[in-house]
Formats: sequence, C-alpha cells, structure tokens
Amino acid sequence: MNLSTFLRRLAPLTLAGAAFATLATPSFYGTVYEHQPDAATLTRVGRVLFFDRSLSASGRMACASCHDPAHAFGPPNALSTQRGGPRLDQIGLRAAPSLMYRAATPSFSEHYQESEGDDSIDAGPTGGFTWDGRAASVHEQAAIPLLAPNEMANTSPADVVARLGRSPSATAFKAAFGPHVLAHPDLAWKGLLLALEVFQQNPAEFSPYSSKYDAFLRGQAQLSAAERRGLAVFNNPDQGNCASCHISAIRRGVFPRFTDDGLIALGVPRNRTLPANANPAFFDLGLCGPLRTDLRQHADYCGRFKTPSLRNVATRQAFFHNGVYHRLDEAVRFYSLRDTQPDKLYRDAHGRPQRVPDDLPAAYRANLNQDAPFGPQRGAKPPLSEADVQDIVAFLKTLTDGYQPAR
Ligand code: HEC
Ligand code: HEC
Repeated sequence: MNLSTFLRRLAPLTLAGAAFATLATPSFYGTVYEHQPDAATLTRVGRVLFFDRSLSASGRMACASCHDPAHAFGPPNALSTQRGGPRLDQIGLRAAPSLMYRAATPSFSEHYQESEGDDSIDAGPTGGFTWDGRAASVHEQAAIPLLAPNEMANTSPADVVARLGRSPSATAFKAAFGPHVLAHPDLAWKGLLLALEVFQQNPAEFSPYSSKYDAFLRGQAQLSAAERRGLAVFNNPDQGNCASCHISAIRRGVFPRFTDDGLIALGVPRNRTLPANANPAFFDLGLCGPLRTDLRQHADYCGRFKTPSLRNVATRQAFFHNGVYHRLDEAVRFYSLRDTQPDKLYRDAHGRPQRVPDDLPAAYRANLNQDAPFGPQRGAKPPLSEADVQDIVAFLKTLTDGYQPAR
C-alpha cells in the first residue's frame, strides 16, 4: 500500500460526530485531522518520534536505538540481533536492517513482474518490508517494533498513544495534527505511523546517493584499481554474478539500489549464538515462517529472505538475516564457499563440520538458489579467489554515503 492509498483508507476514520466543529477543507487527508500537516511537518514530527525513547516500555529504546543514523540507520554495534523488551534483555531472531534506500521497495508479491523489460517473466516472491516481506508498507512495519514484546514492547496501539501523550514529542505531535488528536487513539496511532513513514522517505537522510560509486556513475570520481576489479567481478555473470540480485547499474535513469527486492534462499549458516537456535528443532525459515504466517503452506518458500540493498553495507558489523557474520569479507566469502567447501561453513549439532546447510531442513534444500556464483561441485575451485573477495570488499566500501572527493 503506498502513501496515498493509506491516506484514502484513513478517510472512513473521520471524526464525524467527534468534538471538532470545524474541519479544514477536504484535501489530501480528507477531513481526518484538525490540522493537515504538510510533508515537511510530517518529516519533522516523524524525526522527533523516531528518536523518542519514551515510546518504549523500557523507556530506553527508540527506533534509532536499532536504526542509528550514524550507521546508515542500521545497528550501532556488532551484536547479531539487538536486545529489546521491557528490560532490554530479549534477544531477537533477526539483524536490524539499514533503513536507507527502502522507500522504493515494491509491495510484496508472489509473482513479481518487472515493469521494465520482458513483463511476462515471473520473478517470483519479491518486495515487502522486513527480511520476509511480511509488512506491506513502512507504516505497517513501524507497528511491528512498537508492539513486539522483544522490541519496544508496548501492549497495544492505545498504550503507545498514552506514552506519546506523556512524552516530550506530544507538543510537536499536537502542533502537527491538532490539539485534540491524542484524545482519539485510533487517529493518533495512524498519525504516528504516517509521520514515521514520511520521515523515512526524506531523500536527504534516507536516499542521498552520495557515495563514491554515485560520484563515479556521475563521472565525478575515479575508482581505484582494486575497486574497479571488485566491480568487474561483482558484475560478471560467470563469476560473482552479484549484480543479478544486487543491481549495480543505472536503469532508465534511476540510480541502482543494489537490490532487486527478491526473496531468495541462500543457505546462510545457522547462528548458534541466538537463544532461539538453542532448540535444534527451531528454524527461522523466512517467507514460510514462523514470523510470517500467511505462507506457511508453501514449502517451496522455506528459507527465502529478502535481498537487502548493499548501499552502506560496509558500515554494518552483522551480516545476513541472522547476523551470523561480523565481517564483510566473511559475508562475501560465503558465496564462494557454499558449494565448493561447505564444510568450512556448516556445523552439525555437535559442532563438527558438515557438508550441507545447517539452518535449512533437508526437505527444503531444493529451494536453495543455484545461480552463479553458486553451482560448482564440492571440491571444485571456489568461484572467487581470495584476491577477488578483497576486491569486492574494496568495491562495496565505495557504496558508503557521504563521499568527499579529495581536493
Ligand atoms: C530492537 C531493535 C529495533 C527497534 C527498536 C526498531 N527496529 Fe526496525 N527493524 C528491526 C529488525 C530486527 C528488523 C527486521 C525484522 C524482521 O525481518 O522480522 C527491522 C525492520 C525494519 C524495517 C523494514 C526494513 C526493510 O528493509 O524491510 C523498517 C522500515 C523499520 N524496521 C523501521 C523501524 C521503526 C520506524 C522503528 C521505531 C518505531 C523501528 N524500526 C524500531 C529492529 C528494530
Ligand atoms: C541470487 C541472488 C543473490 C546473489 C547472486 C547475491 N546475493 Fe547477496 N544477498 C542475497 C540475499 C537474498 C541476501 C540475504 C540472505 C539472508 O540473509 O538469508 C543477501 C545478502 C548479502 C549480504 C549481507 C547484507 C546485509 O545487510 O546483511 C552481502 C554483503 C551480500 N549479499 C553480498 C553479495 C555479493 C558480494 C554477491 C556476489 C558474490 C552477492 N551478494 C550475490 C541475494 C543475492
């Protein structure tokens, strides 16, 4: 659901019969709120809410605690997954993604057809928010952490609105939506999600396209020899083939986000440091559950997770949906070793090397993606040499925003 559909859905919630005698002329918002904040106001309020720790049960956790602007709106530390809950002692299943370059994410579809090129090609499950695409939009997404017991741990939307009423953000919120908005928890809740969403669409903060690679694409910077080699391996369909999923080229004048938003099973190793994984029968299978519940019957979807943007990836200290790796070179090397030297990656329940993915039950192994760089036989030469891995890492570092050309 895009922003305007969302606003249209708000319309039935108008305050007919409520305390407002006069409402401004119907507009973009219908006659929903006393005030009709413009995008700049929503952005400002959304930013205030994003940093407001008092919206959590612990009083110590804001959106920014896990999505830190100093780390491309990703996690500020090397923990695989962040701690939340009322006492900040609950350990989640998934790594916090960067929130940058998310605004153009298509809504989830099981049969995605690219709007460009050959639209008869079914690209399969694509889009949506979170690692399994279960949130249809950024405002739906924001409800998840606010209400998740292991994150901001509010018990209901009304609970969030009550906290908002007592928080320092209340003044800005009422100035934006009207003095009585907090008396209407439904509306206040929707206003809060809307402000957070509009804030996250602010291009200056969330999609500045200010990396060295962007400067290179604009013809304003040269890549170093290692960065150029890394880009070539990244793009080469017979070698890294990374760009087949992490799109690297300008298409129809649009700069690349380094994702095609596809949901793909890579067979990332089990992260044995996560408490949920102490149970050998537990598996986070992404698209087919357990966090996502509508596609449980689709055995062919088990193990699929959303392809993340690689923009700003070098600012991260935990990689893949379960944060199993803490170094970028390890994350890149995974692609080269999965099929050629799997025993270097996977362990059995006793910690001994094994040859098959250890976080995907055997019944779902056929779901694993087999395109390059995957596919070579076990024991064959890894598709990426150690020098290739280092070159790719050098290239990925050019995707960090805030590049200052040397003078
Ligand atoms: C405790 C850490 C934590 C907090 C606090 C948190 N998030 Fe997240 N966020 C995550 C994790 C983990 C995911 C991935 C969830 C999943 O895949 O199930 C995520 C995913 C997202 C996504 C989807 C991104 C994508 O690429 O699909 C958005 C948007 C988002 N969060 C926004 C917010 C907002 C807004 C807030 C505050 C209301 C917030 N988050 C608070 C950890 C957090
Ligand atoms: C077939 C599609 C596909 C190809 C090809 C591919 N990736 Fe990925 N990439 C993904 C998916 C899906 C994930 C998330 C998987 C997960 O967490 O289970 C991912 C995750 C990553 C991550 C972790 C990012 C983060 O935020 O945690 C890095 C780094 C990465 N890929 C780099 C590469 C490189 C380098 C190559 C080429 C050698 C490559 N990818 C090829 C689909 C692909």
